[in-house]
Amino acid sequence: MNRQGRLVQVARTGPQDTRGRPLADLRISVMDRCNFRCPYCMPRETYGDRYRFLAAAERLSFDEIARLARLFVRHGVRKLRLTGGEPLLRSNLADLIGELSVIEGLEDLALTTNGVLLAQHAAELAANGLRRVTVSLDTLDAETFRRMNGGFDGLDRVLDGIRAAREAGLAPIRVNCVVQRGVNDGQVLDLARHFRATGITVRFIEYMDVGNRNHWNLERVVPARELYEHIAAVYPLRPLAGAYRGEVAQRYGYTDRLGEIGFVTSVTQPFCGDCTRARLSSDGILYTCLFATEGLDLRARLRGGAADDELLALIGSRWTERTDRYSELRNVAPASQPQRRIEMYYIGG
Ligand code: GTP
Ligand code: 5AD
Ligand code: SF4
Ligand code: SF4
Repeated sequence: MNRQGRLVQVARTGPQDTRGRPLADLRISVMDRCNFRCPYCMPRETYGDRYRFLAAAERLSFDEIARLARLFVRHGVRKLRLTGGEPLLRSNLADLIGELSVIEGLEDLALTTNGVLLAQHAAELAANGLRRVTVSLDTLDAETFRRMNGGFDGLDRVLDGIRAAREAGLAPIRVNCVVQRGVNDGQVLDLARHFRATGITVRFIEYMDVGNRNHWNLERVVPARELYEHIAAVYPLRPLAGAYRGEVAQRYGYTDRLGEIGFVTSVTQPFCGDCTRARLSSDGILYTCLFATEGLDLRARLRGGAADDELLALIGSRWTERTDRYSELRNVAPASQPQRRIEMYYIGG
């Protein structure tokens, strides 16, 4: 596999970082809580009853999020993705969607969810301007599902959620599957088969060393190449061109044209060179890398009365100074990488 054939789409406006990467994509975490406890993200031993999540007032309000989103769009952002924790735990999320969807210049508005609450919200989210959803689903086996989410039922509800999203027109729908060796790697073919010919794309994600608490080790990672060979032996595949600069997934189509799948190769083939993503935590800290150790506190500036121009300048200079390429460096100099990092649930993947 290679990353050739990607479209190089030059950002029209806005800052570029020290490696010439434009700011094109903002991921906004709207909720630090989750109704699952996936051991690779929010292990129960840490995130139990006594864990202190953010208080409501610590989270950015919808108006604060929308204001920042408008500023990011002025800096060249064309795509917004809402994440969590679990974003559908945030009350009245559709109201926020309504505020974001009318931002002029925005081309894409997506949501990443675990799908459990999706069936009840899909129609309203779509009506308020959400374009599409990505559902995290690692397996179709009920027992493995429970094991991978920390002991909850709900596989049927997730599948109902995907159905409802489809009926609501929240397309293209993607299913994200994080693959762990010895846990769900034996089930990738089932997922591929289930969603073949449905118009829904499954993307297999290499298990990453995000956060500090998931006891990651390389032996748990199944290289995308291995998954590709496993699937292609049953359903022959051909590479498809990338849809846009900075796309994280490598796309493959079934040669019988019954759909496509994707691979996110952040461990074996990092894609930092094309990374145009900024991330905003639910308490308003701006991070320029999924593996960041520190961020820029925009909430303090917002609540301290900063004017738009001041915020724009701050965001612009933070991006201009950006040097991040963690996944590339992990592969060449793993020992020298910072050990304390932000957690995935807090920044939304
Ligand atoms: P599309 O717009 O649908 O192409 O998706 P996306 O680019 O928003 O990607 P998505 O959020 O679905 O990402 C899939 C997975 O890839 C995430 O859950 C992460 O595990 C991983 N991922 C996404 N962005 C990054 C990134 O910037 N760096 C690394 N290392 N991994 C990422
Ligand atoms: N490695 C890769 N992907 C991860 N996600 C959460 N933790 C990890 C990890 N360690 C994914 C989830 C979801 C998205 C929010 O991030 O499966 O699709
Ligand atoms: Fe699992 Fe996603 Fe919740 Fe993390 S945020 S515990 S990966 S469902
Ligand atoms: Fe971007 Fe950081 Fe991921 Fe590299 S490791 S692709 S710089 S978020």
